[in-house]
Amino acid sequence: AEGMLWGGRFTGGIDPLMHQYNASISYDKRLYKEDILGSIAFARANAKNGIISNDDFAEIERGLREVLKEWEAGTFVIKPNDEDIHTANERRLGEVISKDIAGKLHTGRSRNEQVVTDMRMWLRERIREIDGLLVDFLKVIAARAEAEIDYLMPGYTHLQRAQPVRFSHWLLSHGFAFASDLERLRECLKRVNKSPLGCGALSGNVFNIDREMMAKELGFDGLLWNSMQAVSDRDFVTEFLQWGSFFMQHISRWAEDLIIYSTTEFGFISMSDLYSTGSSLMPQKKNPDGLELLRGKAGRAFGQMAGLMSTIKSLPSTYNKDLQESWEPMLDQVKTVSDSVQIANGILSTLSVRPERMLAALDPFMVATDLAERLTKLGVPFRETHHISGRCVAKSEELGIPMSELTLEQFKAIDSRFPDDIKDVFKYETSVEAKSAKGGTARSSVLEQIEVLKAMLA
Ligand code: ARG
Repeated sequence: AEGMLWGGRFTGGIDPLMHQYNASISYDKRLYKEDILGSIAFARANAKNGIISNDDFAEIERGLREVLKEWEAGTFVIKPNDEDIHTANERRLGEVISKDIAGKLHTGRSRNEQVVTDMRMWLRERIREIDGLLVDFLKVIAARAEAEIDYLMPGYTHLQRAQPVRFSHWLLSHGFAFASDLERLRECLKRVNKSPLGCGALSGNVFNIDREMMAKELGFDGLLWNSMQAVSDRDFVTEFLQWGSFFMQHISRWAEDLIIYSTTEFGFISMSDLYSTGSSLMPQKKNPDGLELLRGKAGRAFGQMAGLMSTIKSLPSTYNKDLQESWEPMLDQVKTVSDSVQIANGILSTLSVRPERMLAALDPFMVATDLAERLTKLGVPFRETHHISGRCVAKSEELGIPMSELTLEQFKAIDSRFPDDIKDVFKYETSVEAKSAKGGTARSSVLEQIEVLKAMLA
């Protein structure tokens, strides 16, 4: 264990596989910048308290900025004993400036507070990026909903034709799920962006370090108020993983609808080649791989979430090495959701809709409820009208003709209270326009939804 940060009390070596097993540098090196900025803030606060001299601080800051430049230039060389990013940066600092001065950086500090400071800073920026990507996607949803408001399509329950809806109405149904994800993400950010720095290994800082000053310098919105919680908490990761699970669940349902709508049997939409692939065997195939991966990656997102929750469950307070297992799910989830939002945006921006196919899939039975409602509006109790409309369905099945082709006389023979203009209900546009209450399919209501959605993006 010679050469390790913690090597003082050790006499023997470490099993080489254990060394690898223990090391996190292969993935936590990505946070070199957060780690260095955190160290600068920490050293500055120690200088303010007179724990290190101003000259030492200036030297430490200069050295750390050198190290940062090396990372950015790709010239930083990771050494075998650099078990994690904190160790690597401190080791290198001792080579760039005098070892004695570099040795003062960690005064009163623990890697336990350092690791969560780095992770929180990094995740906060990724959340802000994802927020922007999600807003872009939602803008495309709003724009398409506005532009394609005229197109009517079947709405389904149990995947059976139910009632006619506007294509925009369907699209917005997913849009509102994504918009609620945006709200949740913003909530999650509030809890991620709190500073653990100055909490020590578990019990706080003996030099009365100015935690607020450090939090401010590092862009945190406030402090974590208990040092033991600060170092043991990984809720900021699991909440994000839960968020990603939520979002991917929504994405998977949207993708599934589109996969169905893109089949030859439905043919409501046509995917751009940009997000499709072919078959190595069947020349005619154009497969919706982009959508299938969106659907499939939801499982991966849930897995990361369940995995980390299981790791953390029943851990004793405070820091335990198990917590290092929170890194990879975090990195993986960030990649999964960031890529997925962009792929979803690309798919939606480039797919074409085929309104004539949507229209052809509507059938007169889908307004059987409207037929009942016309009578209801004339004062006939709904339970009765439901039954009367059912008799019209049965009649058309018996005659083997679409319900819309029953004559006025045939309707009146079923129930004399049917008004003379009853056959107007077979205009699908009339049917969707009838749902004019807020949240329904009428044009005015869909336009209002678009406004509400847009306001949620601000
Ligand atoms: N690499 C460690 C992690 O990711 C850093 C903290 C190490 N702390 C410790 N007490 N061993 O969790």
